[in-house]
Amino acid sequence: KRPVGAPDKSLAKPVTKVGVVGAGLMASQLATLFVQRLAVPVVLTDIDQERVDKGVKYVHEQLDFQALKGRLNSDKLNRLKALVTGSLTKDAFADADFVIEAVFEEMSVKQQVFAEVEAVVRPDCVLATNTSSLSVTEMASKLEHPERVVGFHFFNPVAVLPLLEVVRAEKTDDATLATAFVVGKNLKKNCVLVKDAPAFVVNRILTRFMGVVNQVLDEGTPVETADRALDPLGLPMSPFELLELVGPAVGLHVAETLHASFPDRFPVSENVRRLVEAHKRGIYQWVDGVRVVDPELETLF
Ligand code: 3HC
Repeated sequence: KRPVGAPDKSLAKPVTKVGVVGAGLMASQLATLFVQRLAVPVVLTDIDQERVDKGVKYVHEQLDFQALKGRLNSDKLNRLKALVTGSLTKDAFADADFVIEAVFEEMSVKQQVFAEVEAVVRPDCVLATNTSSLSVTEMASKLEHPERVVGFHFFNPVAVLPLLEVVRAEKTDDATLATAFVVGKNLKKNCVLVKDAPAFVVNRILTRFMGVVNQVLDEGTPVETADRALDPLGLPMSPFELLELVGPAVGLHVAETLHASFPDRFPVSENVRRLVEAHKRGIYQWVDGVRVVDPELETLF
């Protein structure tokens, strides 16, 4: 069945090589998924060799992990590993059909990345962004071919969570959108078409949820109490476990983007800003085999 809003799949362009801009944790998770599901060459780029090497190493480790679980035999494991390469320059994308960026969440950085990619790829190469909350239309606005830009928003952990938000920007054409849906399906994700609105759908809802948790903390409830309050509902993770997984800085960035668009509906907790500054140690600690919220965090709120 065709997902709601997806163009006819006959419009989709074949994808035989993928480029990933960024070799950080999110980008490496994406590279792993692409190589595992599409079995095509995947090339990762980043700003220095150390990051590139680290990214490729992470993908190899994730593939080893899948093999350990019996999901890949050793032949396939070696074939997939050989398909993943790193490059310091974007020239390696010259023959790519699909390039996805997962770099720092800053509009000017992402626009710059897309401009650099556009300078080397073919005019029909799809440019996708994994942005959590920024406008895809604005990101595409300075390009010669904004019609080939699409939002492709994954959820953490990428290997496990089935949802993929596909974002149609103002100028995204049907061939690009159809390609995105076919790629998403081949990645075995449930693709939903969402509007190019701040933080799309899931992060907007999550930010509202976290906003209420933060309000409770700002009013003096201990972090541990607020964090455990919803346990009886059986959510897969408590609010602060989720924040730790996503990264407090990413969570704050999404909240700030929403605040800029809807100041009354999305307040930003000053305490969360402090938490981000203090986060280097992590949110939780182990005490006598029991995981507790770092007591120092309680002093922040
Ligand atoms: N990478 C790869 N695989 C992972 C993983 C990771 N980081 N974490 C867990 N897994 C795998 C495990 O290996 C296991 O696989 P198996 O079934 O083949 O053995 C499977 O996931 C289940 O893991 P566990 O049994 O260890 O643990 P749980 O059953 O508790 O599930 C979870 C872990 C899937 C992470 C679950 O806790 C969950 O769904 N949490 C909510 C996550 C969530 O809401 N994410 C969205 C965040 S918002 C976001 O990402 C958007 C961004 O823009 C901010």
